[in-house]
Amino acid sequence: MTLLIEEERNAALFSWYRTEQRSFPWRGETDPYRILVSEAMLQQTQTSRVVPFYNRFIDRFPTVESLAAANLQEVLGLWTGLGYNSRGLRLREAARTIAADGWPTTPTTLVELPGVGPYTASAVASFAFGARVPAVDTNLRRVLSRWHGEPLNGAPLHTAAVAALGDPAADWNQAMMDLGATTCVSKIPRCGGCPVKDWCSGPTSYTPTPAQGRFEGSARQLRGAIVRSLVRGDAIFLDIVQQTGFPTTQVETALADLMSEQLVSRDEAGVYRIAE
Ligand code: ADE
Repeated sequence: MTLLIEEERNAALFSWYRTEQRSFPWRGETDPYRILVSEAMLQQTQTSRVVPFYNRFIDRFPTVESLAAANLQEVLGLWTGLGYNSRGLRLREAARTIAADGWPTTPTTLVELPGVGPYTASAVASFAFGARVPAVDTNLRRVLSRWHGEPLNGAPLHTAAVAALGDPAADWNQAMMDLGATTCVSKIPRCGGCPVKDWCSGPTSYTPTPAQGRFEGSARQLRGAIVRSLVRGDAIFLDIVQQTGFPTTQVETALADLMSEQLVSRDEAGVYRIAE
């Protein structure tokens, strides 16, 4: 019997994954809450950095109900250091929706939760609810582009992912993440050790996206520093300027942004605090 290219390639991928898979606290997890927490933290943050934050967060907020009832100061206290603190706020908002209405179980309904984009919706649907969907992120895009020999985006990327998907989808998604993270890496892929190189066009078809801008001195660094300071206690403007060491105009802008995102509030006396 001849196998389709996709079947042969997926057999090689799964056999590699059985022995080479990375170990994470959320691997093999089927509790949708834990999966949602891990995926929210993994957006824009490296896996190895996420592990201790994930463990502390789950210890303190073990269920969706416990997070729904949490105050934002405590949530952000466990989030600062990971960066992009608005993810923590949105995760609590998602927990409130779920605690009130129950879990959405499909990509199209999960994506309506705050902070959940198409990738996260598909990841949660496949890991927690057994949906047969690919979770398309930048890793998957890179690997599929190399398999196809052309940079894939948009609808062609989605079509390629659906055609390549193996069973069970949850394992296939995780295997592809591991392949992308350890072997089919962006800059200098390790094709020699790749389990699916016989079914690949090679690395040239993919051009890495530019790296994130400098963190040091950036608005993102300042926003993180302000949230960290307010997690420790309420403060007036001058305290914040002093604690962060940034110019006052930049602190003003960052505070205005944090307030418009509802991470921070200010009372009539001019005292800033983490929002409710
Ligand atoms: N990146 C995003 N989601 C991930 C997961 N579940 N495992 C490893 N890396 C990831």
